[in-house]
Amino acid sequence: MSATAKIIVITGVSRGCGRALAHEFIRLGHIVIGCGRSEKEIRALQKQFPLPHSFSVVNVADDAQVAAWAKETLANRSAPDLLINNAALINRGAPLWKVPAQEFSDIIDVNLKGTVNVIRHFVPAMVARKRGVIVNFSSGWGRSTDPEFAPYCATKWGIEGLTQAFAQELPAGMAAVPLNPGIINTDMLRTCFGGSASSHPLPHDWAKIAAPFILKLGPGDNGSPLTVPA
Ligand SMILES: NC(=O)c1ccc[n+]([C@@H]2O[C@H](COP(=O)([O-])OP(=O)(O)OC[C@H]3O[C@@H](n4cnc5c(N)ncnc54)[C@H](OP(=O)(O)O)[C@@H]3O)[C@@H](O)[C@H]2O)c1
Repeated sequence: MSATAKIIVITGVSRGCGRALAHEFIRLGHIVIGCGRSEKEIRALQKQFPLPHSFSVVNVADDAQVAAWAKETLANRSAPDLLINNAALINRGAPLWKVPAQEFSDIIDVNLKGTVNVIRHFVPAMVARKRGVIVNFSSGWGRSTDPEFAPYCATKWGIEGLTQAFAQELPAGMAAVPLNPGIINTDMLRTCFGGSASSHPLPHDWAKIAAPFILKLGPGDNGSPLTVPA
């Protein structure tokens, strides 16, 4: 690893954007610490990318699991240079009054509480160094709305407000950014766009643009709602 290698913590690396970003960050020479719930995919990533990279089975909605993951991560390395809250769920398209209570709770638990769980356990070490960037994945649906996706929109609008307030709490030298990744042909997109998802870029093509864009974020971006260039 070169002296310029960044330590990058990213949630939701078992597929989609998170997995593609993990691959691209590693290709660019950085150290990736990733998590997801799917054991098989996480084990395969650890086999493909051994130490100093690290992949753990963690449910971000579970504060105790995140605490243990952060403790182990921070015991073995310095604080992350980059912390990316990518993991999220989307609801099955339906009018809000037809969304089951459990489905609504699960989306809040992962998209909002999960993001805060990760911030709670990783950010103190970053604040102690007064260095580092936190990227919270938002969405086009964090800045606009469409019918049948009210639960998801609520969480992504929440991410925008949460991140902008959180940005105001950070010491000089750090940044927190709500990031709309654009539209990418992933499992999540296919569940809401169906067949037309295929007209959008695949995650590995998107990551070639998104990874360098994220790596360039710094204190000057603190609190700015940004979008990965198309
Ligand atoms: N795709 C798009 O066009 C698009 C557009 C706007 C915003 N976004 C945002 O971009 C991010 C990535 O989306 P995507 O399209 O790549 O989604 P995806 O294909 O559904 O992948 C989501 C990832 O999050 C992980 N995850 C879900 N719940 C988790 C939990 N409780 N704990 C840990 N990991 C969890 C999943 O892994 P496991 O199931 O293994 O846990 C998976 O690796 C999300 O924040 C999404 O809202 C995507």
